[in-house]
Amino acid sequence: MINKNTILPHNQIIQLDCVTAIRELPDNSVHLILSDIPYGIGTEDWDVLHDNTNSAYLGSSPAQQKAGVIFKKRGKPINGWSKADREIPHQYYEWCSKWAAEWLRVLKPGGSAIIFAGRRLGHRSISALEDAGFSFKDILAWMRDRAPHRAQRLSVIYERRGDDDCAKEWRGWRVGNLRPIFEPILWFCKPYKIGTTIADNVLNHGVGAYHQDAFARYVERSDNVIRCGYDSKEVGLHPTQKPIKLMQALIELTTQPGQTVLDPFAGCGSTLVAAKLLNRVYIGYEVNPAYVKICEERLADDLLSVLNHT
Ligand SMILES: C[S@@+](CC[C@H](N)C(=O)[O-])C[C@H]1O[C@@H](n2cnc3c(N)ncnc32)[C@H](O)[C@@H]1O
Repeated sequence: MINKNTILPHNQIIQLDCVTAIRELPDNSVHLILSDIPYGIGTEDWDVLHDNTNSAYLGSSPAQQKAGVIFKKRGKPINGWSKADREIPHQYYEWCSKWAAEWLRVLKPGGSAIIFAGRRLGHRSISALEDAGFSFKDILAWMRDRAPHRAQRLSVIYERRGDDDCAKEWRGWRVGNLRPIFEPILWFCKPYKIGTTIADNVLNHGVGAYHQDAFARYVERSDNVIRCGYDSKEVGLHPTQKPIKLMQALIELTTQPGQTVLDPFAGCGSTLVAAKLLNRVYIGYEVNPAYVKICEERLADDLLSVLNHT
């Protein structure tokens, strides 16, 4: 549905389901969508979108029950033993498709949609946004300072089974993944009008180019690897909280002061705080009232002055 006459909210965090709420935003009104979307790999209420038994993750697959305590629970549903587990990637694609077309509609031509996405399901969000009409522009890497390494040692599994020969033979081997020290950041653009140039589009809509000089203030070189850590005062508000500085780097990369930044999955509001610090108009949606309250508190002026590093 096209809503050309609706009004764009101004500097607000709104407690609503973004999938439906975004339908109320006007066409071509937002300069940047920047969001750390649910990755679809966790069991937290806000992340589980797959309507299935998720048996491998919850420790109820037949193989897990047979193996007993050793494989009782996995960190993530990585192998997808059950048919339902193997449906997760498709369900994630379908979930992304529910909102991708609306994101395209509300963005200005040439505007960016930048999302954090999990390494294992990110390709499904790329396909969903591409199928909705976005151009997929690039993958950036956010290098984290540290990351938990959950891959099990194979020798320990055999030791617990009392099989010392196998434990010795397989020493040094693990099952699972390498340490996940980077997170992919997926960068999409709304195509601009056929028959115009990108330079014309920038003049018409204010977006479509990237600001190398501003971005260079946050990164060692203007390449596509970003190393931004947390400020000591900005941790522990959300399980997937992102550093404000990281969000600032991405906002300055793609927008100018006064332009509008939308975060449909705002969490504790890192995007919104970053946008406010940079004098952008911000709009955030978040379903969880507890996180909305944290957003409101963080957006209060006295807190912002503590966190402003720009
Ligand atoms: C990955 S977290 C974002 C965390 C954020 N990076 C931060 O720094 O706080 C995603 C958030 O989206 C919210 N969410 C999930 N589905 C939603 C929906 N349909 N509408 C609005 N918010 C939603 C969840 O409650 C969760 O807080």
